[in-house]
Amino acid sequence: MARGTARYVCQECGTTYRKWAGRCENCGAWNSIVEETPGPQAAPGPGGARLTPGTALAFVPLDLAAPDRPRWITGNAEFDRVCGGGLVRGSAILIGGDPGIGKSTLLLQVACRAAAERRCAYISGEEAVEQIQARAARLGLADAPVRLAAATDVRDIIASLEGRDAPELVIVDSIQTMFVDTVESAPGTVAQVRASAAALIGAAKRRGVVMVLVGHVTKDGAIAGPRVLEHMVDTTVYFEGDRGHQFRILRSVKNRFGAADEIGVFEMTGQGLVEVANPSALFLADRAPDGGDGRVSGAAVFAGLEGTRPVLMEIQALVAPSSLGTPRRAVVGWDAGRLSMVLAVLEARCGIAIGMRDVYLNVAGGLRVQEPAADLAGAAALLSSLGDSPVPHDAVVFGEIGLSGEVRPVAQMDLRLREAAKLGFVEAVGPARPRRAAPPLPETPRLREIPHVRHLVPLFGLEDGRMP
Ligand code: TYD
Ligand code: MG
Repeated sequence: MARGTARYVCQECGTTYRKWAGRCENCGAWNSIVEETPGPQAAPGPGGARLTPGTALAFVPLDLAAPDRPRWITGNAEFDRVCGGGLVRGSAILIGGDPGIGKSTLLLQVACRAAAERRCAYISGEEAVEQIQARAARLGLADAPVRLAAATDVRDIIASLEGRDAPELVIVDSIQTMFVDTVESAPGTVAQVRASAAALIGAAKRRGVVMVLVGHVTKDGAIAGPRVLEHMVDTTVYFEGDRGHQFRILRSVKNRFGAADEIGVFEMTGQGLVEVANPSALFLADRAPDGGDGRVSGAAVFAGLEGTRPVLMEIQALVAPSSLGTPRRAVVGWDAGRLSMVLAVLEARCGIAIGMRDVYLNVAGGLRVQEPAADLAGAAALLSSLGDSPVPHDAVVFGEIGLSGEVRPVAQMDLRLREAAKLGFVEAVGPARPRRAAPPLPETPRLREIPHVRHLVPLFGLEDGRMP
């Protein structure tokens, strides 16, 4: 591309075009392509021979001799966990989430908590300071020594990071409202978001400040337009939840300084977000009670793992006769592809005729399961609904199902079992233990090893058409 010529960038996915088009070929979005004039930061191409000579780099050893990067604990245990056990100086954290899910509330609470030990600043481009003050008063946090400002000009924010008593934690809410005047596009466009984030992150790294950026999420779940942001920051976390439910999950999807897939659980109350130290108990609180007629078929408790943390959740299924030519398949909180696979395995390997029925699968409470280890719990819920025979109330289920119907071992079986024991489960249905170097499992819950999914079938009073 010739220097200085305009280029056209899709604001949804960041794809660049030479010509304007009504629809982005990459992501399919309509009217998302906007002209951008390359600013001074536009990267030269591979043949960029015009670079002026630079200064030689000051190399340092790999060995971090100075213990300069201890984790800084904010005091909000769930937030610290998701950030990998505390914040790292000079790091940038991106928090994405739907509007109204509670990002501003969470970060205000984190800032107020952290302000007891460090200098914290909360900069809002969306709300007026009075609105934030009113919220802080309602949350009983008005006394916290957080520095508050309403600003959208990145230069002003960076200037505020100078000086001896500059803030050590800066929250920028949100990156879509920020702008740098070297880029001509409007705030919220890919070019602005990218340039603003680069400037803020660069300043944070130079000054050793922890920079937290809030990013809005588009309908399809990407942090608005700039997926580019995700690789600029050190840590990306999403704040998720279902408006219909009171709990919210903070989930790390990328972390240069810790494990990804770590979750923190909060409950949204009238007093803001309350940390939930024992999420399993919360997720299972609404289960149908045990005993007599109260027992319902079609529900299985899955002993899952979220990052390094075991979490129990209920998987519910409903298998019903279909009145449609093509039966309905609906999932909430589970992967539709995995449901199809489990159904196909039950049909082909166990002779369970499920293909012509409507199937609904739901992870209770609005949770989202990504682990393949949930396959067996899904299968148990499906078979339980089909056979109208409850899964034992005090049993948890886990295991990955392979295409030939074999139940595969899953990671951290001992951790899952211990969490189940804590909540009073006495039985577990799961894969056969791997032979080599398996760590000892706890005594309770007792693990019933199922090498093949067909061994699950007789538990629910169903006939296995293909079993000898
Ligand atoms: P907010 O933090 O403004 O969301 P975001 O920044 O992600 O857009 O959260 C707003 C929602 O949170 C709003 O629907 C009301 C709810 N809320 C409570 O239920 N309790 C509270 O104490 C607060 C402050 C907010
Ligand atoms: Mg907000």
